Amino acid sequence: MGYQDNYNRAWADPEGFWGEAAQAADWFSPWTSVLDREASPGGRWFTGATTNVCHNALDRHVAAGRGDQVALIYDSAMTGTVETFTYAALTEQVAKLAGALAALGVGQGDRVLVYMPMIPEAAMAMLACARLGAVHSVVFGGFAATELKTRIEDAQPKVILSASCGLEPGRVIAYKPLLDAALAMSVHKPARCVIVQRPQLEAALDPARDDDWATAVATAAPVPCVPVEATDPLYILYTSGTTGVPKGVVRDSGGYMVALLWSLKNLYGLAPGEVMFTASDVGWVVGHSYIVYGPLLYGATTVLYEGKPVGTPDAGAFWRIIQQHSVKILFTAPTAFRAIKRDDPTGALMADYDLSGFRALFLAGERCDPDTLHWAQDRVKVPVVDHWWQTETGWPVAANCLGLEALPIKSGSPTKAVPGWKVEVLSAEGQPMAAGEIGVLAIKLPLPPGALPTLWENDAGFRKSYLVDYPGYYKTGDAGFIDEDGYIFVMSRIDDIINVAGHRLSTGGMEEVLAGHPDVAECAVIGVADDLKGQVPLGLLVLKSGVTRPASEIEKEAVALVRDKIGPVAAFKTALVVSRLPKTRSGKILRGTMQKIADSQDYKVPATIDDPTSLEDITERLRLAGYAVPGETG
Ligand code: COA
Ligand code: AMP
Repeated sequence: MGYQDNYNRAWADPEGFWGEAAQAADWFSPWTSVLDREASPGGRWFTGATTNVCHNALDRHVAAGRGDQVALIYDSAMTGTVETFTYAALTEQVAKLAGALAALGVGQGDRVLVYMPMIPEAAMAMLACARLGAVHSVVFGGFAATELKTRIEDAQPKVILSASCGLEPGRVIAYKPLLDAALAMSVHKPARCVIVQRPQLEAALDPARDDDWATAVATAAPVPCVPVEATDPLYILYTSGTTGVPKGVVRDSGGYMVALLWSLKNLYGLAPGEVMFTASDVGWVVGHSYIVYGPLLYGATTVLYEGKPVGTPDAGAFWRIIQQHSVKILFTAPTAFRAIKRDDPTGALMADYDLSGFRALFLAGERCDPDTLHWAQDRVKVPVVDHWWQTETGWPVAANCLGLEALPIKSGSPTKAVPGWKVEVLSAEGQPMAAGEIGVLAIKLPLPPGALPTLWENDAGFRKSYLVDYPGYYKTGDAGFIDEDGYIFVMSRIDDIINVAGHRLSTGGMEEVLAGHPDVAECAVIGVADDLKGQVPLGLLVLKSGVTRPASEIEKEAVALVRDKIGPVAAFKTALVVSRLPKTRSGKILRGTMQKIADSQDYKVPATIDDPTSLEDITERLRLAGYAVPGETG
């Protein structure tokens, strides 16, 4: 069966389609229903079944004779080391770590927060939680203490797993002080923190609260996998919403496992035993699905890379890894390729490596601009697949499913909806749009396995954010169109989320931080186009009357404040003091218009503008700050 047959069947007979796909996993007891459409608005998958994701990712492969196969390759460009773990070794370590967690009182349903750099212990932490039926929540290392505190308070972890430091080019990031600061602010306190001591910077441990990871694991007894319901949560992953309060996306166990297993074979076209290299971070959904769970569930080998696409040591880093570890599939964000293209415009460094085994490059996390797509296509000489998904969906919604059938590529499009996902374009009023017309990208319910069933302890928030605006659909928050051939084009967000180097950030969250500066009366943050990162945030500040300090001083403080409260990942480097912000007569700040001006695009003066001269002021301010502002066409 090719793509279309699979697509049709998955929609017409989801029970049959996914019931068959589920045969690829081990279950401790069978389901009573493949899809229970009544269980929640989006449907629940494999209700009544019991399983364990860690068993499926590790133990069953050992039992099936894969024990000596490499499961995980830790390649650290930051330390110049490579370490491999076979399935047998990884299972043993994870079983002991789970034993250490159990000894600290962690049991089924308890939360464990993981705040770690890209080291193998991060993957072990996730798998050990899965082994116990505990719910992990990984927080990306580039977030600041305040963001960490918000997540600790929401997830209420019994234990926190962390490391003494992370390694970024040119600097060592001390994680422990960030964790200590977050815990000092947090109302919720975990029972214990278990810390990996890295030789680059050891952390001071507080015996009343902290344990040394190596000692805890060395003295622990291994524990077996705990059977959990397929519908039990495997993890919570926080992602940016439209305010400073992140959304706790919940992932179930059984449906997710089935979706990932299906995708490895049919979408990525990988075979068990082959090597997948996903250059992302375990703090993002891409890392959860395709660094840790997907490849291991499938019996493949995963590369966990601590380093950057460029500068560690050069733009040949990915090519080295592909050759050295016999990588078949590389998955990263377009921004990584923009960085490689910037540093090695002709791709000359590729000539130093044997890439003959490399089969396909997958890109996601942000819109793939045609320039980057063509540059990659011309050089890697393997299919370059842009695919579209979100933290919420857990796995790709639109892609060229190479394992089923390679469809022709149209630049600017992540190809067609993946089997299981019925994507439609709706008007603001919920009416279907014609082919080629831009509207809101919505997905008809039920969602396939793997998609979020809810937000953590917030069913009402789940319905409000995703389900109420378009009854019968999941609202993606993305706008775009579908052409007459069924190709999906994702154009922009309909909310305040921006995408910075493949990282999803809320401008509303940054505005909340800036509004906390004592001299700021009001502010707006917009995403401005950037050659490397796709978008970067720009803050516009109106000062309180009577403030006489130099604007440049306040701008610097604003930049430092966002870094301190949200973290370096926000890449918030520019704040500009302006005399006023353009608004509609009802007081809505014209962020979209300002963004067009900063991006040097033509714009129309909105009919509802309160005072058209406010746009002239902003244009002049941006021009003075070095932005190439456009001519006004309206
Ligand atoms: N811990 C602490 N700090 C971190 C961090 C971590 N885990 N990850 C990033 N940071 C810091 C960086 O050091 C940087 O700090 P700086 O402002 O002092 O320079 C800041 O956060 C921004 O990081 P990043 O967005 O990674 O920018 P960069 O300039 O360091 O690198 C790229 C740019 C394009 C090379 C990089 O973004 C990249 O490799 N992207 C690949 C794609 C990817 O990972 N996408 C994720 C979703 S698929
Ligand atoms: P995240 O939840 O961090 O994975 O970010 C999801 C968002 O990133 C989506 O809603 C899109 O806005 C954007 N995105 C991800 N992949 C793509 C893609 N292939 N094309 C366009 N936008 C994308």
